[in-house]
Amino acid sequence: MSSLKEAIACPICDQTLTKVPPDCKQCQNYFRNEVTKMPLSLVDLTPERVKREIDHGVETKPLRTELFRLPIISWLYERILPPIWAMGLRNLGGIDIEFRQCVEFFGQDLRVVADISCGTGMISRRLALLQRCEQIIALDYSETMLGQLQQQMQLEGISPQQITIIRGDVGALPFAPNSLDAVYSGAAMHCWPDATTGIRNIYQALRSGGKLFATTFLQPLPSIVFRFFTPDELQQIAIAAGFEPDCVQVETRGVYGTIKCIK
Ligand SMILES: C[S@@+](CC[C@H](N)C(=O)[O-])C[C@H]1O[C@@H](n2cnc3c(N)ncnc32)[C@H](O)[C@@H]1O
Repeated sequence: MSSLKEAIACPICDQTLTKVPPDCKQCQNYFRNEVTKMPLSLVDLTPERVKREIDHGVETKPLRTELFRLPIISWLYERILPPIWAMGLRNLGGIDIEFRQCVEFFGQDLRVVADISCGTGMISRRLALLQRCEQIIALDYSETMLGQLQQQMQLEGISPQQITIIRGDVGALPFAPNSLDAVYSGAAMHCWPDATTGIRNIYQALRSGGKLFATTFLQPLPSIVFRFFTPDELQQIAIAAGFEPDCVQVETRGVYGTIKCIK
């Protein structure tokens, strides 16, 4: 595995473009049309967007997810947070240190790598500039965060061919099973509607030997808008997703936690 077309699947019927199930004509038609737009434009593979083609329903997510769709939050995100993180709130030294740790953990054998809940793509863009992966997929639920990613790519001279951008939901990922070599998911689990489902979906999308590097904020930060975890909960979530206990490593630094897992 795997070419991009083999990796990307309909979030409703889980079929890739190579298989068209007879009982799923509508979502496959939407899915097929959307995928033809890649990589030049952002494609929307959230389950509700695909379902809208079928039943015209609208689904809303919790505030911790919806918040990031506000244009002002997306605009401010990368303009305000990196210097605050660099003071020590997010790893020691901020996003550059996190990128180094992640790349070190992933190693060399990287064909298809996904940055899930990529936000403005701080790690996807660094991966693209590193030129070590064949395919980089940046996925987020927020179309406005992905808009910022597109703008940043233009500014940094990263072409659309270097990063495939997908609007998607970690609760119903648009990837075929065993199709990804590595997944990075930074500072995101506390924003998801259901972290257990998210990590389980990532586990299924990873190939055997595939790696997950995920970070999140921890208790005692209070779970008012976001859902913060204990280190023990992170371990349990990874094991419940399918990772073997001795292939799960949880590291903490203050209220910041990192999970490294190998499938
Ligand atoms: C705090 S930001 C982290 C962004 C980036 N990964 C980083 O390291 O800075 C959390 C991101 O999770 C995304 N998110 C929240 N719920 C999601 C979901 N259900 N599926 C995919 N992404 C989601 C948000 O849109 C937001 O961009």
